Amino acid sequence: LKFKIIQNDPTALGGQAIRREVLITFARKEETPEATLLIYLPKNTDGPVPAFLTINFVGNHTIHPDPGISITRSWVRNSKDWGIENNRADERSRGSRRSRWAVEKILKRGYALATIYYGDIDPDYDDGFANGVHRLYSKPKPDEWGSISAWAWGLSRCLDYLETDRDINAKKVAVMGHSRLGKTSLWAGAQDDRFALVISNDSGCGGAALSRREFGETVKRINTSFPHWFCDNFTQYNDRINDLPVDQHLLIALVAPRPVYIASATGDPWADPKGEFLSGYHAGPVYKLFGLEGVGVDSHPKADHPVGHHIGYHLRTGKHDVTDFDWEQYLNFADRHLK
Ligand code: GCU
Repeated sequence: LKFKIIQNDPTALGGQAIRREVLITFARKEETPEATLLIYLPKNTDGPVPAFLTINFVGNHTIHPDPGISITRSWVRNSKDWGIENNRADERSRGSRRSRWAVEKILKRGYALATIYYGDIDPDYDDGFANGVHRLYSKPKPDEWGSISAWAWGLSRCLDYLETDRDINAKKVAVMGHSRLGKTSLWAGAQDDRFALVISNDSGCGGAALSRREFGETVKRINTSFPHWFCDNFTQYNDRINDLPVDQHLLIALVAPRPVYIASATGDPWADPKGEFLSGYHAGPVYKLFGLEGVGVDSHPKADHPVGHHIGYHLRTGKHDVTDFDWEQYLNFADRHLK
C-alpha cells in the first residue's frame, strides 16, 4: 500500500478550503489498481480537524463542480443523467452529484470531507472477481469477501492514510455511505473500530433493514440481482430467511459502543424504513451493556423528527437520496459525539 500526495491546493472553493488528493496504490505488481482519495480541509482551524470519510458512486469529480478534482480513470456505470458514456467519466459529469454532498456546509462546521470512488476499489459488476482489488488475491471462497466487503476494506485503507495526515484528527473520523454504500459504511464501521462514528444513509437490505421482515428488497432478490455484493454463503438463506443465524440489528450492534446513525426516507419503501429503524431499536440492548442509551424511543418516529442518543435515527420526507437535511442531522450528531 502506497500513498502519494498528488495535489495540495490551498486556494480551493474560492479560497475557503484546501483540496488535497492522495493516490493510493495497492500492489507490487506492474498493473496495480489505484484509487484517488479526495480531501477538502477547512482553513484557519485550530489544529487537526474531525472528518467525514465517504464513498461515492460516480467519481470524486461528481461531488462538486470544482475544476481541480481529478476525474477517475476507472469503470463508471453509464448514465445519461450523470453524463457517463462507454463506462468512462469525463468533464460532462463534473459536479453532477453535487446535491448529495454538502461540501461547503461540512467545511463551515469545521469538518474535513474525504471521499473515494467505489469503482476505484472494485468495479460494481459481476465479473467473477477478476478486477479491482480482488484481482490481487485468490478467488474468494464462499465465506470470503464480495464487493461490499472490498469497498469497506478500501475505506479502511483510506483511514490508514488519514492516520498519517497531520491536518486530520484520525481518532474522530465518521464513515458515511448511501444505499449500497450505506451497507458498505456499516460493514466498514463494524469491522474497523478505528472509525469513531458510523452513518448509514438509506442502506436497506443487507444494510440497516431487518432481513426477516422481507419488506421491500429481500435477501433472495438482492443476492439474485447483485451476486457479487455478498459472500456466496449468504445465498443459502435465500429461501429460508428465518434460519439465518443473524439479522441486521446485530450488524448495528457491532458498532457499539461507538455512535451510529441510521437514516431512512419516506419515499424509499424498497429500503424498508421501518425495518431500518427496528434494527437500530434492537441494537439498543447492546449499547445498554455499555451504559449507553440507543434510539431512546419505542416506535418509528414521524417524518423529519430526528431521534436518538448513541444510536441516531431519522425518517426524512422524500425519495431515496442524500440531501442537505440528512447532512444537517449527521453534522449535529457528530458535533454531539466527536466535538
Ligand atoms: C438497488 C438495490 C439496493 C441498493 C440500491 C443502491 O436498488 O436493490 O439494495 O441499496 O440499488 O445502491 O442504490
